Amino acid sequence: MPTASFKASFWDRLARKYAAQPIADAAAYEKTLQRTRAWLKPEDTVLELGCGTGSTAILHAPHVHHITGSDISPEMITIANEKLDTGGPANADFIAATPDDTRFQAGAYDVVLTFNFLHLVEDLPATLQRIHTLLKPGGLLIAKTPCVGDMGIMPRLAVPVMRAFGRAPFVNFFSKDRFAAAVAEAGFTVEESGLHAATGHSLFVVGQRG
Ligand SMILES: C[S@@+](CC[C@H](N)C(=O)[O-])C[C@H]1O[C@@H](n2cnc3c(N)ncnc32)[C@H](O)[C@@H]1O
Repeated sequence: MPTASFKASFWDRLARKYAAQPIADAAAYEKTLQRTRAWLKPEDTVLELGCGTGSTAILHAPHVHHITGSDISPEMITIANEKLDTGGPANADFIAATPDDTRFQAGAYDVVLTFNFLHLVEDLPATLQRIHTLLKPGGLLIAKTPCVGDMGIMPRLAVPVMRAFGRAPFVNFFSKDRFAAAVAEAGFTVEESGLHAATGHSLFVVGQRG
């Protein structure tokens, strides 16, 4: 398995290019923003995992008490902080961290957000369990994740080759059914799930900690 510093440097190298890319499917992104916002409350303390360059956290900040965006890549976090420094919301902050970072306190969060991230973790059950621990009782996991296991044979062939050349990260090939089942197996009640794009396999899931 790649080390944390190897993973961070992979994403560091991509960060400026990632920040400059337009959103691939603006309608699906907007739908995900709307469905996420429907669950957020003004008093919520929110943590986003794998926040990238922070755009989504900054858009949600006006609708919550506080949001912390976190990402393994210091360069992604530098870009997120640049956005904060140029007129960003005062109730957001960003830190370079993985989900197991000890600065995240158990039971501290009303909502954990994670978008386009959970397919990149080696141990999905352990990461979901960690999210469960970070949430207050009744807290929400709100996630949207590409379910690469439903995307046919091409990713299974291409990703290992790209990884061998340092051109792709680790990717977990779970299906939509397996992803939703893993959320339930981690102790969440699935309150909402759905697809926000006309085509594609990114599953949006809202799970509530019991
Ligand atoms: C595909 S990008 C998604 C970024 C953002 N959430 C979005 O939807 O645009 C995946 C992000 O996960 C971060 N990442 C990868 N592995 C991570 C880990 N183990 N812990 C925290 N962040 C990680 C990467 O640095 C990258 O910013």
